[in-house]
Amino acid sequence: MSENREIKSHTQIFKNKQNLKAYMPGFGNDFETAALEGALPEGQNSPQRCNYGLYGEQLSGTAFTAPQAQNERTWCYRIRPSVKHANRYEKIQNPYWISAPNIDQDIVSLGQYRWDPVPHSDLSLNWINGMRTMTTAGDVNTQVGMAAHIYLVNTSMIDDYFYSADSELLVVPQEGSLRFHTELGIIDLEPKEIGILPRGLLYRVEVTNGPCRGFVCENYGQKFEMPNRGPIGANCLANRRDFKTPVAAFEDRETPSTVTIKWCGQFHKTKIEHSPLDVVAWHGNYAPCKYNLKNFCPVGSILFDHPDPSIYTVLSAPSGILGTANIDFVLFRERWQVAENTFRPPWYHKNVMSELMGNIYGQYEAKPEGFVPGGTSLHNMMLPHGPDNDAFERASNSELKPTKMENTMSFMFETRFPQHLTNFAAKLAPLQDNYIDCWQDIKKKFDGTPGLK
Ligand SMILES: [Fe+2]
Repeated sequence: MSENREIKSHTQIFKNKQNLKAYMPGFGNDFETAALEGALPEGQNSPQRCNYGLYGEQLSGTAFTAPQAQNERTWCYRIRPSVKHANRYEKIQNPYWISAPNIDQDIVSLGQYRWDPVPHSDLSLNWINGMRTMTTAGDVNTQVGMAAHIYLVNTSMIDDYFYSADSELLVVPQEGSLRFHTELGIIDLEPKEIGILPRGLLYRVEVTNGPCRGFVCENYGQKFEMPNRGPIGANCLANRRDFKTPVAAFEDRETPSTVTIKWCGQFHKTKIEHSPLDVVAWHGNYAPCKYNLKNFCPVGSILFDHPDPSIYTVLSAPSGILGTANIDFVLFRERWQVAENTFRPPWYHKNVMSELMGNIYGQYEAKPEGFVPGGTSLHNMMLPHGPDNDAFERASNSELKPTKMENTMSFMFETRFPQHLTNFAAKLAPLQDNYIDCWQDIKKKFDGTPGLK
């Protein structure tokens, strides 16, 4: 072991003992971390016998044969191998967490939709039964597409654990704080941050400040990655160092527990006699992480017009078509507007991609009213949308001085697949029936004569 490595290892152990919220910077790095000194084998993955009597085990996030740049796996050194964290499975019902394909013939998904925040519940809701699916797209069985959820969580999972074999989860808190105790370490998450939980990663979720509400993008397909910045260069937008992956932390707890697994859209439960969060040390590049959205450095127009909203992409999950994402996660945050002779809000458009938006806080520029914090909107494939009449008139007539857009943070889950409404979204969630009326006041100005109207 080199001297440098020794120092790093000691530092991590110290952080583990002193502060459970210790993180390592970077996105997609090859990390290494140990909660106990000497628990991580040096120079090899699978020694004949591991230190402390630990079991070596690989968690593969991509096929063994995936190209080197995409290949992701993590080696775990754990108290018991994962086969001891599974018993016989029993199917259970979890009726509000829906997977694609889910096309209800009685529901019209063709339309522009907007919802008020889904209210908190008096029921005891945890990360599993508190998930409310709004839309689904693609097919979970063929690993394409996504689902958009709203979570309402007021109850901690204590001896209950969960993993999704179907998907990677991108978590966007809007109210309250959650602590994700994962196999690979602990992530605290609060509004203005996002978390990424890889497919197959086991965890439990604790409420640290509730009740909690937020959004989840469930990605059935290839993992989220950094978008190509093209001519923007090596910096700005989301920077790799601002992503944080937790250091190793484990539970050595002998207590009756349950593990719930989402697999092919269905939920299964298995009973075990101990905590499965028993990874004492790990190394690899398949790991959960968090990111502070306040670190997103927006880039935009500095003279006239404005670029496509893809300029605000935080993360992109590729599909089989190059440049056409399974999902783009796009952030609209505080920024300056300086463009001259320009209609500054988002223009009117129709898009081959389907756009689900959520408001984290503040006011969104194209819709000053109605799209409130905690609210959701959906503009589906090839359905026209754009500013409401007030926003149009204001932006068309205001003096174009440099202005700072303050107190605003919204996001978009944009997918190449049409998004189908669930029964919950269409009938139980607080749908704004009059949303489509926001464009009613837009007037015909054309009368055949030239001039600005
Ligand atoms: Fe749009």
